[in-house]
Amino acid sequence: MPYWQDILSAEKIREVVTHVKSLSNVFTGPPPTALTIPPRVPPDAASIGRGKALFTSKICITCHGPEGRGGVRLTDAKGYPVISRDLTAPWTFRGGSEPEQIWLRITTGLLPNSMPSFAELITAAERWDLVNYVLSLSRTPPWEPGGTFGGPGQQADLVKRGEYLVRAEMCGLCHTQATRGGIYRDEFHLAGGQRVDVWPHGVLVSRNLTSDPDTGLGRWTTE
Ligand code: HEC
Ligand code: HEC
Repeated sequence: MPYWQDILSAEKIREVVTHVKSLSNVFTGPPPTALTIPPRVPPDAASIGRGKALFTSKICITCHGPEGRGGVRLTDAKGYPVISRDLTAPWTFRGGSEPEQIWLRITTGLLPNSMPSFAELITAAERWDLVNYVLSLSRTPPWEPGGTFGGPGQQADLVKRGEYLVRAEMCGLCHTQATRGGIYRDEFHLAGGQRVDVWPHGVLVSRNLTSDPDTGLGRWTTE
């Protein structure tokens, strides 16, 4: 998704926004009312302890794991995979990592995604205890002194680490076929067959990286 700042004026961007909003019925209802965020419960040991107990009793643990490391594979409203968030890495939170922002996420969830809303199940003050607990789990970010990656890329299991690298390096970008409309065909993940223009050398066709013995890498040795 490129940026348009240098191409369209602010006014033109607003016109495009108006058009994009007209494509969805999400914006036709009355405008939503803003939520009032109550003052934060001080993040002392008592509050963090209550938050920890709530984390277990209010099923956060089911999706985010006992250490809050997430990584559980769920599906979103359209059936696409969504991985529950690693709560020890607040810099990855989409809604922001400020205490108020986390409080809002627990209150509203990330609907219609798998992260549910807890507004009905947990009182506003208890949601602050949960925020305080979640923030108490924070690791030092990898770019700061003393920080480590400690993420899925650090797997000792070579297959899992390889899978992570294949995704991180986006091998599927070239090694997966797309439809004429440009939508990747998940059922052909890494099966090759995409034409890749390698200027000035010509057009190459990406290879099948699956373990099929005849058309893929099934007969290859590790070396
Ligand atoms: C049914 C599974 C499920 C439960 C239960 C659940 N979560 Fe989540 N949570 C998720 C998923 C999935 C995501 C990532 C959603 C996404 O990527 O859009 C997420 C994201 C988050 C985030 C990051 C929000 C952001 O801005 O990115 C926080 C914080 C969080 N959960 C806290 C909690 C807490 C606290 C609880 C318990 C009160 C809880 N979750 C219960 C599935 C769950
Ligand atoms: C920019 C597009 C692109 C990306 C990204 C890419 N590949 Fe490729 N790959 C190709 C093309 C095109 C070929 C076929 C080259 C040829 O025919 O000479 C190929 C060939 C291969 C082959 C040789 C297979 C055979 O049958 O000989 C392997 C193995 C491979 N890629 C693995 C990977 C891995 C692993 C990654 C990610 C780390 C990756 N590729 C990322 C385009 C890409």
